[in-house]
Amino acid sequence: MKKILLTLAALTMAFAAVAQPQLREDNIEEVLKAMTLQEKATLLVGGARAAMVNGVTSGVSANVPGAAGNTRPIERLGIPVTVLADGPAGLRIQPTRPGDANTYYCTGFPVGTLLASSWDLSLVEEVTKAMGNEVLEYGVDVLLAPGMNIHRNPLCGRNFEYFSEDPLLSGKMAAAYVRGIQSNGVGTSIKHYAANNQETNRNEDDAIISQRALREIYLKNFEIAVKESQPWTVMSSYNKLNGDYTQQSEGLLTTVLRDEWGFKGIVMTDWGNKAGTVKSAKAGNDLMEPGNQNEIDRIIAGVQDGTISQEELDRNVRNMLTYIVRTPRFKGYKFSNKPDLKAHAEVARKAAGESIVLLRNEGALPLKGTEKVALYGISALDFVAGGTGSGDVNKAYVVNMEEAMTKAGFTLDKGLSDYYKAYVAYDKAQKGLTNTGFSWFFSRKLSEISIPADAISAESKANDVAVVVLGRNAGEGADRKQIDDFELTAVERELLRDVSTAYHAAGKKVIVVLNVGGVIETTSWKNMVDAIVLPWSPGQEGANAVADVLTGKVNPSGKLPMTFPVNFMDHPSSANFPYNYQQSASRGFSWGPRQPQKNVDYTQYEEGIWVGYRHFVTRDVEVSYPFGYGLSYTTFAYSKPVVKADKDGFTASITVTNTGKVAGKEVVELYVSAPEGGLEKPACELKAFGKTKELQPGESQTLTLKVSAYELASFNEAASAWEAAAGKYSVHFGASVADIRCTVPFTLKKAQNWPVHNVLAPVAAK
Ligand code: BGC
Repeated sequence: MKKILLTLAALTMAFAAVAQPQLREDNIEEVLKAMTLQEKATLLVGGARAAMVNGVTSGVSANVPGAAGNTRPIERLGIPVTVLADGPAGLRIQPTRPGDANTYYCTGFPVGTLLASSWDLSLVEEVTKAMGNEVLEYGVDVLLAPGMNIHRNPLCGRNFEYFSEDPLLSGKMAAAYVRGIQSNGVGTSIKHYAANNQETNRNEDDAIISQRALREIYLKNFEIAVKESQPWTVMSSYNKLNGDYTQQSEGLLTTVLRDEWGFKGIVMTDWGNKAGTVKSAKAGNDLMEPGNQNEIDRIIAGVQDGTISQEELDRNVRNMLTYIVRTPRFKGYKFSNKPDLKAHAEVARKAAGESIVLLRNEGALPLKGTEKVALYGISALDFVAGGTGSGDVNKAYVVNMEEAMTKAGFTLDKGLSDYYKAYVAYDKAQKGLTNTGFSWFFSRKLSEISIPADAISAESKANDVAVVVLGRNAGEGADRKQIDDFELTAVERELLRDVSTAYHAAGKKVIVVLNVGGVIETTSWKNMVDAIVLPWSPGQEGANAVADVLTGKVNPSGKLPMTFPVNFMDHPSSANFPYNYQQSASRGFSWGPRQPQKNVDYTQYEEGIWVGYRHFVTRDVEVSYPFGYGLSYTTFAYSKPVVKADKDGFTASITVTNTGKVAGKEVVELYVSAPEGGLEKPACELKAFGKTKELQPGESQTLTLKVSAYELASFNEAASAWEAAAGKYSVHFGASVADIRCTVPFTLKKAQNWPVHNVLAPVAAK
């Protein structure tokens, strides 16, 4: 009897050993086989929605409060929880924990638009290497970043998180960003895939886009990022694209992303539960975030009634297991909760300094650093380090302009500063901008205050120079407006007018600092002032970087990653953008059935490929500042342009010489004009770029840039193929798209084409 019992026990143990393999890197198939349907469904559905606690999303994961989400553990099989947290301007977690004296602040780095203004891929990699270290050391497995939607229109509320109006610049930036983060052994989630170009009704809006514009503009940047950096994850967006929710679009998530581009990671949804979980899973969306029990039940029912096949389910589960074995949490990494925030603050400051764009300088800059400065504008105190919403970072501090200028050696007009301090404190209290509860989502900015003209006149006599800081905030859940946001407010106009008049009468200069999240109107006022410095939203150390530029400690070398138009309506996309939509849906929610409303329920991308400079340059429309533009305190000469055909396109080189008196760096932009005939093409398109090291006066450097034939191709919808036409191309080396320094011809001897799947066509126009 005893013997029989022993044998039974041994058998049970053996069975248990077979049925309960513990997940390892090399036994994914075995674990997959051992999983029940319930377990498989569970793995495809993230933890429940996070709660809002003290103004931040408290994580569903017990491990990292404030993280946006997690994947569910299956202890029986040794599958751990993994933790996902926002991005992109740094890691977003809760900075303090009840009953815990430690703090968990993260570095507030420059926003994506400022990083893109550096045009410096190694700088971006350096920044995100530091950022990724915080991800690792705070116990997070995936940073939900970078945000990389195209700046289709200046008023998209989240443009500050995104890089550029140009897909090549955006894609290269995203790839560098991903490489830096992932060099830490943690993952990224490039987002929001795809065509999430407005916040208004972002959950439901149907972006209707031609296949050509999709392929060339809105997917191209994702294509580059996927191919060049293999992000661990991709986040599908909230919106619809040509009729389907992106999270349910097989064409987008499987055909294009995996079959054509070779993506190997997981796709997760943006943070919204759509009905139709099964359709999402079937389409290739592996993870529903944040998840709920209904979704698990739907997947189980879907398998049982055959709506989703066992193979499709297993494909997604396999992707999830492959992702999980890469994570630090799976590997048992002992995170310290103590990243080197001091060192990272230095990285943030350096990155901001290297990226700031100097838009105008009529002999005003650099300053000596010892001047008496009258600092105007509430944003000098209420400095905008980053935007609102999930892209905000819980940082330990934000240096403001007053602190930065004082530290740099300037003497500030005390009466003026005290006046602003009192007002900012009062206005903050009035508006209740405490960053608690839901206000993180909606909170915007204090309003500018009038300064009496006679006070300004007195200040102009008592000070050496005026610095006016104009600020804008924006963020998730709402788009910006044309009036009083893209355009200056009446109070701001008055301030600029009165300050310019008084200071110029006193023989003094006026410098404007644009502490903005997105493009604003500049044509009507730029000639009134002597210098304009554009730091965007430069992170917690950004004000120090602005001071570095004002004193010349840093010679600005950033260039615009988008166009500054004269008027908002000059962008063709403005005709189909919800720029004056004021109702509740502008908050990003939809409140139930109603008649489909243009630009709210559906948005026709009638402008096609004519986005940003592609439109302005080709149609010769005047701009305020062109794409790729930025000044320096020195000058550069371009020489010895060479373009050599090679077996796959061409290699170009150009020599850049610093012809001025101070050291500086120069961004060189390579644009290509295609041969006439065939598809209609923009006058030129950015195909490569490079940045010199810091060149001393008189010093030269030769930059070499490579362009493949595929990169020259345009998308032919009729043939469903990328086509590079044979013939004579012009290769332009430019300091901006409007400042071409040399042009060299290049001949592509044989036409080439790359057929792709005919997917994602718009359904009949509404
Ligand atoms: C945002 C994402 C973010 C997610 C998690 C969503 O509302 O659109 O960008 O990653 O929330 O916080």
